[in-house]
Amino acid sequence: MNPTSSKLIHVDTASGSYDVVVGTDLVSSCGERIRAAVPKADAAIVVSDTNVAPHYLSTTVASIVDAGLPCSAFVVPAGETNKNLGTYGQILQAMAEASLTRDSVVVALGGGVVGDMAGFAAATYMRGIRVVQMPTTLLSMVDSSVGGKTAIDLAVGKNLVGAFLQPSLVLADVCTLATLEAEVFADGMGEVVKHTVLASPALFDELTERPVSQDASNEHLIDVVSQNIEIKRDVVSADEREHGLRQTLNLGHTLGHAIEAANGYTLGHGHCVAAGLCCIARATEELGWSEPGLARQIERCTAAQDLPTTTDISLDEIYRQATHDKKRHGSTINVVVPVCIGAARIQTITLDEMRTLVELGCSARG
Ligand code: GLY
Repeated sequence: MNPTSSKLIHVDTASGSYDVVVGTDLVSSCGERIRAAVPKADAAIVVSDTNVAPHYLSTTVASIVDAGLPCSAFVVPAGETNKNLGTYGQILQAMAEASLTRDSVVVALGGGVVGDMAGFAAATYMRGIRVVQMPTTLLSMVDSSVGGKTAIDLAVGKNLVGAFLQPSLVLADVCTLATLEAEVFADGMGEVVKHTVLASPALFDELTERPVSQDASNEHLIDVVSQNIEIKRDVVSADEREHGLRQTLNLGHTLGHAIEAANGYTLGHGHCVAAGLCCIARATEELGWSEPGLARQIERCTAAQDLPTTTDISLDEIYRQATHDKKRHGSTINVVVPVCIGAARIQTITLDEMRTLVELGCSARG
């Protein structure tokens, strides 16, 4: 039997270049790859969480040690509610207790929460050390591990404290997707659908007809994950700091974040983005800003992945949350308008127009 072939995607940004490897058996072989990507590293710390550590932490640490790098580990409690100043401080403390230096490397082994928080610890420890991202969820593979955004949450909002730190290497081992709960896998499909609406009509059509399931072959998963990382790579290479084009990656997020916050962060981010994407498409189509029929197309693709296309949250609550979005600028807010499958644009709207979008998009109950 042929071994599954891996895919290598090179990312070039103004502040750093790195490889993303998408494949199988990358956890067990990570040590040599990390050594090659960070040749001056004198030590590593693997940061993981209580969901992921039982599956992959010991293999990861063993591979790094076998490659000749002293390695410690720190496990944080799983979940977005722990992506806070307290946990971040504990990670820094563990890094200091492990005597990490400016040459050491942080290895983030987990989903988006671990990647964001360990990345932010790396960005700030001794004014910044290197980080390797080892995403273990679909969402973190296709989105948060690539592009260099790192952050923690404050009580008043998500990702309010953060930094840009491009990783030195990203290892996306699709075998780790097998141990995800079905809902967590589907969560990643929310960002996948978003990417295809932005930039890939071919993959969008394929997903609508043949939704990606967790049981898909490793080859198929590698293909879908790679195509999505290439979409994200093209955006972050052109606009690393989100001055323009990168804002389009927030498609579905203004209403999606509002739905997420109104649900008290109990519904997964990708589920909320999926609902937010359908809501904004219904509203912008109704206003004539999007191609006729677009909302129905997006709803079909979204529903095919077992993701929600609507929300039960009240219109007043969605409006209230959406206008607290950190993307708000005074009395205006930037929203990403899906124009057709394969194109989106950023539009600055007033708060009154935001209310209209909420009323038009979020009233439909499916
Ligand atoms: N998740 C959107 C971005 O990385 O810009």
